[in-house]
Amino acid sequence: MANHPETGPAPTGHARIERNVLLMMVLVLVTVSIGGLVQIIPLFTIESTIERVEGMRPYTPLEQMGRNIYVREGCYNCHSQQVRPFRDEVERYGHYSLAAESMFDHPFQWSSKRTGPDLARVGGKYSNEWHVAHLAEPRALVPETVMPAYPFLDRPLDYDDVAAHLTALRRAGVPYTDDMVANAAADLEAQASPDADPSGVAARYPKALVGDFDGDPSRVTEMDALVAYLQMLGTLVDFTRHQPSDLRQ
Ligand code: HEC
Repeated sequence: MANHPETGPAPTGHARIERNVLLMMVLVLVTVSIGGLVQIIPLFTIESTIERVEGMRPYTPLEQMGRNIYVREGCYNCHSQQVRPFRDEVERYGHYSLAAESMFDHPFQWSSKRTGPDLARVGGKYSNEWHVAHLAEPRALVPETVMPAYPFLDRPLDYDDVAAHLTALRRAGVPYTDDMVANAAADLEAQASPDADPSGVAARYPKALVGDFDGDPSRVTEMDALVAYLQMLGTLVDFTRHQPSDLRQ
């Protein structure tokens, strides 16, 4: 190698790459791309990374509207929805959460903060009346709680756009059928009204709880929707009949 009078010997091998920014960038890009492709390409060959589990279904229109209120009010700032696979959590809240149990959640509500208890399995733990009273004034039931009061949830639920919500979720991958989207408003009303014919809701959404949730059967309120959502959380998979290993469909 010829010696340059000022910079010493001309660089060779790795030294040459290290001194040439452009060459270095191109080679880094090539190396990182190969690593990335090796990780990503196998994922295209499998249908889903989430194991399907018997019992999971998309939210009913009423539950979904309740879920929207849950997100709007920021309940996730104080409540998680994920039971971790630790003994103390499982003894307190029930079976640890399966990935499939939040597969239709957009956005998911796992959260990272527990000022209040985890809500992933709160469905069925209390009566509708308890939830209504607790949301309206938590301190009436739990004097020391820091949970805010939500008395305004007794206002009418605005659900003109419920079919659009289902369509948007369908685009995000939730398997709402044309039938479900076409009947969204009717199903919402039928689920929240004790006198309506619940057969359509029951056929489209197994295990949907039908009835009056807020104690006022004459109107569909935000409280109806939120309580319907809370009462179904964690109830779709039947853990008394199955262990996770034999839940595959
Ligand atoms: C500032 C924090 C905070 C926010 C925000 C909050 N909560 Fe709570 N929540 C708590 C605390 C603390 C408790 C436990 C004491 C009690 O029952 O009030 C609780 C308890 C609960 C319980 C009873 C859970 C159980 O297993 O006993 C439910 C249900 C609940 N909250 C729902 C909600 C919903 C729905 C929202 C949003 C509309 C909400 N919370 C917002 C703090 C909060």
